[in-house]
Amino acid sequence: MAELTINGQSYFTDSPPDTPLLWVIREDLRLTGTKYGCGVGLCGSCTVHINGEAVRSCRMPLGDVSGDALITTIEGLHPANAHPVQKAWIEHQVPQCGYCQSGQIMQAAAFLARNPTPSHEQIVDAMNGNLCRCATYGRIPDAVARAAELMKEDSSNV
Ligand code: FES
Ligand code: FES
Repeated sequence: MAELTINGQSYFTDSPPDTPLLWVIREDLRLTGTKYGCGVGLCGSCTVHINGEAVRSCRMPLGDVSGDALITTIEGLHPANAHPVQKAWIEHQVPQCGYCQSGQIMQAAAFLARNPTPSHEQIVDAMNGNLCRCATYGRIPDAVARAAELMKEDSSNV
């Protein structure tokens, strides 16, 4: 039995250690905001945070997730779904079908936590590996840049 800390809550699973974390999150724990796309680390739709880093959960075996790792899924990014990235995504109306978008948002949030004042090129580079079959690529960099502005405004209001 493995214990995981996801979105600040403890969960237990008896899945085998070679089970991809994505399967545990979706099938065992029923946190279905994280999506299955390619299953081989190429599309980014399964992106979650582990200790603040963006990780492709389809390529992360359960047995490689340390017991004290802090895992965050889209459901836990912000208690009111009002993370600056989520606000910017709504402002810019980024999603079309929405399937890839939780992965896009998790990727963007981890990137901005590391680099809160990115250049356009850095944004494009950071988001480059997250695929979108609806081709929302034009709006994604604008929304990430807007999220960086919102984060700056939030920090100057503290
Ligand atoms: S489902 Fe994990 S990268 Fe595509
Ligand atoms: S919004 Fe449809 S796959 Fe990205």
